[in-house]
Amino acid sequence: MYKQFIRPAMFQMDAEDAHNYMVRMLRIYRHLPLVRNWIKKQYYSESEGITINGLHFKNRVGLSAGFDKNAEIFDELADFGFGFVELGTVTRSPQPGNPGCRIFRLEKDESIISRTGFNNNGIKEFEANLQTLRKGDYRIGVNINKDASSENNAIVDDFLFLFKELYDQVDYFSINWGSISPKSTTDVLHAIHDYRKEQKDYRMILIKIPADISPEILGQIIDIADLFDIDGFIATGPTTNRSELTHYSEDKLNQIGAGNVSGKGMGNKSREVVRLIRQMQKKNYIVIGAGGIMTVDDARMMLDAGADLIQIYSAFIYSGPSIIRKIIKKIG
Ligand SMILES: Cc1cc2nc3c(=O)[nH]c(=O)nc-3n(C[C@H](O)[C@H](O)[C@H](O)COP(=O)(O)O)c2cc1C
Repeated sequence: MYKQFIRPAMFQMDAEDAHNYMVRMLRIYRHLPLVRNWIKKQYYSESEGITINGLHFKNRVGLSAGFDKNAEIFDELADFGFGFVELGTVTRSPQPGNPGCRIFRLEKDESIISRTGFNNNGIKEFEANLQTLRKGDYRIGVNINKDASSENNAIVDDFLFLFKELYDQVDYFSINWGSISPKSTTDVLHAIHDYRKEQKDYRMILIKIPADISPEILGQIIDIADLFDIDGFIATGPTTNRSELTHYSEDKLNQIGAGNVSGKGMGNKSREVVRLIRQMQKKNYIVIGAGGIMTVDDARMMLDAGADLIQIYSAFIYSGPSIIRKIIKKIG
């Protein structure tokens, strides 16, 4: 049904327009309880789930950051079976992101090139949505970042503000390595670690690793993670490497311009990073395997490489919601 009817119709539209259209559809779907119950039954999968740091995930399959940046449709998305949803990236103030067309499908390679630049409507709207819309029994993570204009001390202020604001409302936080300098990241982790120590409840902090990381830098990140009791890693975000996009000419790819590759075109990069983390870690970190998981076998191999949980984004676009159930069936 998805591949026959929905995907061809959606793929007629510009990728970001299609995404916004889907958000509008899911907001209508929200008010159709009978349809929702039917969908939930269709997409339900039996799973033992997994308990991490005392937190139970009903299954191991989550949605990656960037799909529901403003916390608008996560409750509806969870109807399709996700055990957890990572919201955001959210920032303190609304951010326009990069100008112009900024999401490109490379259908023949089941990949996406994007340069969205963390566009989102800011924490105020995000928080109001989160408070009113959270209903189901799934876990929620949030990826937080600084405002594009913030520099120096304002960077730590932005992160700490978001961390405090959302502390009681989410199950974990994630922070992208590489979107601010290593020095700023260290200051941010220090500040949020100190805040967490004073809280009654515990919230996990994860570092999202870029796909193109060298073992040397990964070692440095792990050392910093050890220092601030970071709970684990999301491995990985998209790659800058386009060599796996074999169905498109260099000219065509150059026409698209800047942007990172998600989906099948990431190859095995993220799995290799997960493997490296497991080899290099000095304590048993939580690892969410993400990036390039397009099939049930990819998910299985990611767990075999050492991931505890997995996240998908592009597979949801290319295969539709049934991929969640198929993966859960296979990995339990
Ligand atoms: C259009 C688009 C927007 C994204 N936005 C974000 C974002 O705001 N924050 C973030 O941490 N990752 C973002 N990502 C990266 C995804 O979370 C994920 O790491 C990446 O797509 C690799 O996973 P996949 O191969 O399953 O798609 C975005 C990806 C895409 C394709």
